[in-house]
Amino acid sequence: MRKPIIAGNWKMNKTMAETKEMITALAPKIVNADCDVVLCVPYTDLQAAKKAAKGTNIKIGAENVGWAEKGAFTGEVSAEMLNELKVTYVIIGHSERRQYFGETDATVNMRVQAALNAKLKPIVCVGETETERENGETEKVLEKQICEGLKGFKSKDFDKIVIAYEPVWAIGTGKTATATDANNTIGYIRHILAKKFHKSIAEKTRIEYGGSMNVKNCKELMAQEEIDGGLIGGASLKPDDFAFIVNYNK
Ligand code: PGA
Repeated sequence: MRKPIIAGNWKMNKTMAETKEMITALAPKIVNADCDVVLCVPYTDLQAAKKAAKGTNIKIGAENVGWAEKGAFTGEVSAEMLNELKVTYVIIGHSERRQYFGETDATVNMRVQAALNAKLKPIVCVGETETERENGETEKVLEKQICEGLKGFKSKDFDKIVIAYEPVWAIGTGKTATATDANNTIGYIRHILAKKFHKSIAEKTRIEYGGSMNVKNCKELMAQEEIDGGLIGGASLKPDDFAFIVNYNK
């Protein structure tokens, strides 16, 4: 029922020339993918990425979006600006934004609203830090992030919203949650959605796992019942690795 989604998150990597090179190399390797394939790239690469991905099954996303329509928000990019570039997805609330740039559940909520208003599909990131995990606070943290970050959204919004569960301690560290752990935690997120929103929302919302997902662990992670996809950082920068993950069921 839920179509799997494999999304790359390039973070602050690749120039326009490298973008073209990567997508040109990747596209022929993933023509038979059964999942939605997305690359979220830096703002400056969006146009080059759209051009290189034309006629392929790769959808392009941004890595953030401003919450305001326009105005005095130095350094922000609005949803309308992304729309003009025909971007499909946008990552919101990545832990690096929360950690280094003061992103909060309240700003996540406003950005998701701005994205939805512009018909962009938000990939909303949640996840606990190592300390929170050690203190047994994972469930509490996730509940707060989901309830406040997604507050006010209705059933039809969840046709567009994708949730990415990314334990912060697993991002870029080579440490992955075990497939069973990731599956259970994503199952818990679904439980929160059922309890705080609606059972049908819990059933239809796509929830992906992120955090050191790679060619070695992707098949096992993707085989889990609750896991609908992956948000992939490091391994999305290499065409062969990313293609392997996209083709996880081949
Ligand atoms: P990683 O990053 O795959 O390099 O751990 C994932 C992410 O931050 O989305």
